[in-house]
Amino acid sequence: MTVPKLLNVRDFQAAAAQILDPVHADYFAGGARDEITLAENETAFDRISLLPRVLRGRPAPDLTVDLVGSPTSMPIFLSPTAFHRLAHPEGEAATARAAAAAGTVMIAAMASTVAVEEVAAQGTALWFQLYLQPDLAFTESVIQRAAAAGCRALVLTVDSAVFGSHERDNRHDFHQLPDGLHCENMRDAGEVRPIQMSPEFSWKHLRWLQSVTDLPVILKGILHPDDAILAVEHGAAAVIVSNHGGRQLDTTPASIRALPAVVRAVGGRIPVLLDGGIRRGTDVVKALALGATAVGVGRPVVWGLAVDGGKGVSAVLEILRAELEHTLLLCGYGSVRELVAGLLLLPPGEY
Ligand code: FNR
Repeated sequence: MTVPKLLNVRDFQAAAAQILDPVHADYFAGGARDEITLAENETAFDRISLLPRVLRGRPAPDLTVDLVGSPTSMPIFLSPTAFHRLAHPEGEAATARAAAAAGTVMIAAMASTVAVEEVAAQGTALWFQLYLQPDLAFTESVIQRAAAAGCRALVLTVDSAVFGSHERDNRHDFHQLPDGLHCENMRDAGEVRPIQMSPEFSWKHLRWLQSVTDLPVILKGILHPDDAILAVEHGAAAVIVSNHGGRQLDTTPASIRALPAVVRAVGGRIPVLLDGGIRRGTDVVKALALGATAVGVGRPVVWGLAVDGGKGVSAVLEILRAELEHTLLLCGYGSVRELVAGLLLLPPGEY
């Protein structure tokens, strides 16, 4: 068998689809309902054009950013995705090694199949993604575990009042992990609790969360500018513009389309991050030019992991880094922090 050259993120997507169990491949790839948002997340980037500048005499681009207190080598972080041991036996530990090697932040998922302590031991800058649980005492114990493990921020996912409806999973009857895999952060006195969603959480629970932790709290899943304002008013350290990779409410806008209004509403008071549909260095540049400080990747990490464990994740991250640098050079920019909307030609009527 000839091994195809894996030149870009799409190549990793195709290779992962060959390697993964088809049920798990659908779990990772899928979105909510008709998967309209899932597709839009990617195609919305393609409708934005780049208008490069020339003869600007710039040095090799500086990709570094300060990500809510964590200095990173590039403005690309690992968004939280569940169940990495479905993709590779080493699971989240391998992912964390790759994040450490890349010098960037990994957001560990609450629904991780490797315990947060072992993920943290790989040496990466780590943030912890949290779903508030109706049992607040248990929620607090999970937060304390994450803090003790060395997580530097909490990422509260706020777009999940209920679970999204994934029809691919429903067709396969895929509703629980295979034997031997567990959500290791949900262990409580030996038993593993199921993750629960609740529509009853409100801004007052954010206040509660801030009262039980000193860690910065970042809100993930903001789309409406009015919620971005409330996030600032309630002391969020940052917001992540995200539609959960199209896995929660279908027919929300692509995250890149929701970004400018959130950036305007926040007015520079806190960093605005984004995830959803980042597949090329040009996508990163477009998000930063519209005001994001950094972007997250979800599925691309899983594809790298499925293909070659930690090495595969490293390969995906280095592809994106190289494409980002190449794009900046061709656009005439010497730093990711210089990017401005004047670099973009936006589709009429969409923004
Ligand atoms: C996710 N995402 C997610 N988000 C979260 O806050 N908690 C979670 O447990 C998960 N789990 C999860 C599993 C899988 C398989 C996927 C694909 C995604 C959403 C994730 O953090 C991120 O918002 C999207 O993945 C970004 O879109 P892309 O990069 O996958 O297009």
